[in-house]
Amino acid sequence: MPFCSMAFVQAVVLVLVLASAPPVAQAWSKEGHMLTCQIAQDLLEPAAAHAVKNLLPEDVDGDLSALCVWPDQVRHWYKYRWSSPLHFIDTPDKACSFVYSRDCHGPDGAKDMCVAGAIANFTSQLMHYKHGSADRRYNLTEALLFLSHFMGDVHQVWDREIILTAIDKLYGKNMDMFRKQLEHNFTKGTWSDDVSSWADCEDLGSCPTKYATESIGLACKWAYDGVHEGETLSDDYFDSRLPIVSRRIAQGGVRLAMFLNRIFGAHNHDVAPPT
Ligand SMILES: *[C@@H]1O[C@H](CO)[C@@H](O)[C@H](O)[C@H]1NC(C)=O
Ligand SMILES: *[C@@H]1O[C@H](CO)[C@@H](O)[C@H](O)[C@H]1NC(C)=O
Ligand SMILES: *[C@@H]1O[C@H](CO)[C@@H](O)[C@H](O)[C@H]1NC(C)=O
Repeated sequence: MPFCSMAFVQAVVLVLVLASAPPVAQAWSKEGHMLTCQIAQDLLEPAAAHAVKNLLPEDVDGDLSALCVWPDQVRHWYKYRWSSPLHFIDTPDKACSFVYSRDCHGPDGAKDMCVAGAIANFTSQLMHYKHGSADRRYNLTEALLFLSHFMGDVHQVWDREIILTAIDKLYGKNMDMFRKQLEHNFTKGTWSDDVSSWADCEDLGSCPTKYATESIGLACKWAYDGVHEGETLSDDYFDSRLPIVSRRIAQGGVRLAMFLNRIFGAHNHDVAPPT
């Protein structure tokens, strides 16, 4: 196989684990994206909260999570076909690493066309919002939705099955309960000591590279571990993966908030290109 992308690893895992299910490479799913965006929106400071509300179309009533999946809905439309390669990263088979210059390109080799490049792209577009100098080539509403969505994607390790099973079985189909638990765990619970390090980021342009590297490391470490062909989603598999998936959702939310607070806050500065 020519490459091994996150989406691809994920599809393989699905095929191995759920032999009867179709190989879905559709990523974090609606639920994962909504959780990440809700967590982020709850952490916004007033300036960012105001800018986000201002950029969102009126009909969603200020709720970012309502449109966080929009990039998945339009990725195959003719007008947005360019955005399709931005949902994932191709890394060489068995590399278990992400090297921006080697791996961040589209299928035709176009530079920066991967999820890490996309986050930097839409971050730097949004930086112009505050100065009222928005480049008319760019639609900042769309930039906000793309940034919010790709921050979810870059934290994605597996398919939606784990998230859906958790919401279904552990939280009585109540996504709000899941979100509150996640928020509790990074404010007062098990992750409260780690949360400030999650948001450590010297330069918004290159931090997405770090997040992608983490995801690829986790996918490599856990993807094939203990999984045998034809097995169904076992309790062991679910129990061992859920804490990782949960932490990635929370990290995505905390980091999206950090990005938006810095983009729309008092001290924004331009984004250096990723390396
Ligand atoms: C950046 O966004 C523009 C649309 O606003 C798009 O045409 C371009 O392909 C994007 N590039 C990357 C690397 O995301
Ligand atoms: C920006 O994008 C949104 C979502 O696609 C669209 O509804 C809106 O009309 C666009 N705004 C402009 C000025 O083109
Ligand atoms: C929150 O932390 C507790 C204690 O470690 C854990 O049992 C629970 O599964 C965590 N919940 C979520 C949603 O991460």
